[in-house]
Amino acid sequence: AGQWTRLLPLTSVLPKELMPINGKPVIEYILDECIKSGIKEIILIISKRKNIIKKYFYNDVFYKNLIKKNKNDKKLKFEYSKIKKYKKMIKFVYQNSPRGTGDAVLKCKNLIKSKYFLMLMPDDLIINSNCSASLIKLHNRYKSPIIASKKVNKKDVSRWGIYSVKSKINKKNFIIKDVVEKPEIKYAPSNNAVIGRYILPRIIFTKLKKLKKGKDGEIHITDAIKKLIYEGNEFIGHNFVGKYLDCGTMEGYIKSSLKISKIWNFVL
Ligand code: G1P
Repeated sequence: AGQWTRLLPLTSVLPKELMPINGKPVIEYILDECIKSGIKEIILIISKRKNIIKKYFYNDVFYKNLIKKNKNDKKLKFEYSKIKKYKKMIKFVYQNSPRGTGDAVLKCKNLIKSKYFLMLMPDDLIINSNCSASLIKLHNRYKSPIIASKKVNKKDVSRWGIYSVKSKINKKNFIIKDVVEKPEIKYAPSNNAVIGRYILPRIIFTKLKKLKKGKDGEIHITDAIKKLIYEGNEFIGHNFVGKYLDCGTMEGYIKSSLKISKIWNFVL
């Protein structure tokens, strides 16, 4: 239910998730990453204000009428079959007030039956390599929760959750000592930023239920992870290889669009 004030003015009417990058809504990049990594069930947490996202996947009448009139339009049929494929996998959950990432995830409690689940933030695009697939692979090996991460500029640490390292597994993977939500530079334990891909254990719901408001008065997933770490649960930080595109700010969104179009032009 994020407000997306960072992407105004368009987001005053259009949810950020439907904003196009190279002609494709941001959300489809995220869905494609999940599907390619083997995920079969997807929950989208939206708000009443963002119901147009659900409509996007439930627009059968629109497509059927168009296809009736344009029976030979392959592109049209392709788009409709793609939307139908997504729709089959997606359930919608509502968080009508923006109370934070932790509160949003808690809304999925009754739908998540498996011991672990993958969580993705739609404003973080990762290209050139499937980050979710890497996280799943790592999880299957270590049986631990995993957080995707990148080193960021020290001066920008207050934009992300930041974690400190307890020990090194290898060049790309670390056991996390502590994590803090968007610290000021002087309190940041490092410049290892949490990027929006996590494999979380279902027991996190027990922490989320009891969690008090944190930074900026919101319930943060970061604070629930911190509690689990303090109780002795092992969390791995994984420095992924793909290119991270931050679509959560206007500058980032524009840069991401340029970057992805460049890749496409190259492919074409
Ligand atoms: C959220 C998390 C933050 C994380 C970031 C990644 O923040 O709270 O810990 O680093 O996603 O994008 P948000 O971008 O929703 O403000």
